[in-house]
Amino acid sequence: MKSNIFSYPYKISQQMRNELNGHKSLLIWFTGLSGSGKSTLADALEQKLYELGVRTMVLDGDNVRGSLNKGLSFSADDRSENIRRVTEMSRILLDSGVVVLANFVSPYKKDREYVEKTIKPNIFVEIYMKTSIEICKQRDQKGLYMKAEKGTIKNLTGVNAPYEVPENPAVIITEKDSLEQAVEKVYLEIKDKLELQIE
Ligand SMILES: Nc1ncnc2c1ncn2[C@@H]1O[C@H](COP(=O)(O)OP(=O)(O)O)[C@@H](O)[C@H]1O
Ligand SMILES: [Mg+2]
Repeated sequence: MKSNIFSYPYKISQQMRNELNGHKSLLIWFTGLSGSGKSTLADALEQKLYELGVRTMVLDGDNVRGSLNKGLSFSADDRSENIRRVTEMSRILLDSGVVVLANFVSPYKKDREYVEKTIKPNIFVEIYMKTSIEICKQRDQKGLYMKAEKGTIKNLTGVNAPYEVPENPAVIITEKDSLEQAVEKVYLEIKDKLELQIE
């Protein structure tokens, strides 16, 4: 069917916005179990980037599920839809010239691959939070693991829903890394990609 929708060719490009900002756009994607430290690390990294004058925006699984993705469940299909919408949102933000920090359990390899191939090449940086389920259970800040043990919640990744470990992440953060070390590891990976023009 022929579509009657035509996209308008705006003159200001992502490249021009990047030049204005003095750095490239990047999508830093944090994947790992609930409680693995995604939000904590993104928060600390964003503060460092802010101090350096980098424009950032965070997309956090928990926040997005209460707004843009309200009503989606934790079934495999809805998890994919969650990631698809986040990918589109990321695309807009990347186009705006900023560095996006995206924290999503994103347990399925195919969903993470979809993100990578959908956005422009070379600006996707996958960070695998390799925190053991035992540590995540000990932390259990949101009480999710306790609820899963009691059977009051289903589809909790790592307990009764799968987590497919990333095969080739750009950075692996383990529970042995302090928060400061984790920030440095990620920063080292993105430093050159940022092409930060410091005045
Ligand atoms: N490197 C770390 N060392 C010790 N505790 C941490 C570390 N990173 C996160 N935490 C703690 O673990 C809990 C879960 O972290 P959070 O960032 O919310 O995980 P996620 O976003 O992956 O669910 C929080 O209470 C946080 O303070
Ligand atoms: Mg979080």
